[in-house]
Amino acid sequence: MVQFTLPKNSKVTKGKAWNPPSKDAEAGRWREYRIYRFDPETGENPRVDTYWVDMKDCGPMVLDALIWIKNKIDPTLTFRRSCREGVCGSCSMNIAGTNTLACTMHADDAPSSVIAVYPLPHMPVVKDLVPDMTRFYAQHRSIEPWLKTDSPTPQKEWRQSHEDREKLDGLYECILCACCSTACPSYWWNGDRYLGPAVLLQAQRWVEDSRDERTGERLDDLEDPFRLYRCHTILNCTKACPKGLNPAKAIASLKAKMVERT
Ligand code: SF4
Ligand code: SF4
Ligand code: FES
Repeated sequence: MVQFTLPKNSKVTKGKAWNPPSKDAEAGRWREYRIYRFDPETGENPRVDTYWVDMKDCGPMVLDALIWIKNKIDPTLTFRRSCREGVCGSCSMNIAGTNTLACTMHADDAPSSVIAVYPLPHMPVVKDLVPDMTRFYAQHRSIEPWLKTDSPTPQKEWRQSHEDREKLDGLYECILCACCSTACPSYWWNGDRYLGPAVLLQAQRWVEDSRDERTGERLDDLEDPFRLYRCHTILNCTKACPKGLNPAKAIASLKAKMVERT
């Protein structure tokens, strides 16, 4: 995938104001959105465009507003979305200063009546609200997120006790939205070498799986000053997770496993 980055010395400028309501508009009916816009192909600096959304004509979630804007005002506005149910992880972005999912964030939960929408922070931007996730996915692949075994494959299925299955709760639900990793200062500064909370939570998911037979190999792979140990327990990741998961706890468990085996 082509890597797009912001132009050198770029600064975000005030952009166009679209669809302002008339002066005698019904109070509270229109909600103002200020949305980051950037198209690397134009060579122009990023800008913030302002849109007013008719809340009587639009669903309650921030994603509804983005779709409304795209359909009714500005078809060039670009963002990712798929499930609209908080399960695919594709609509993650920074809304009102917080990394979250646009489809599960109610517009009324924004702390201000004006809602600012930016792409996930500290990622290269492909266009508008679409970050380039290439490195994030490569890091996920690097932990080999699949069952690895040496025993002969059973005829029916790999079995697991209820107790062992429960150990995966809080890990398997991750939707790889990257809200946590892009809220982590260590990942901002060392994202080329530090795996970040999302990928480490996934690593812990496979280390914890009683059916997996390569735990030692998985831990060896994480034994590195950057891949795991750049976590300084700042906990931004746990605060950011829109699924209520605790990546910082998963990282602490990985570190504990490293100590246990020495
Ligand atoms: S706890 Fe670790 S992974 Fe989470 S935000 Fe802090 S440094 Fe990043
Ligand atoms: S741990 Fe939470 S915030 Fe991080 S990628 Fe998974 S679902 Fe998203
Ligand atoms: S559209 Fe799938 S998580 Fe929001």
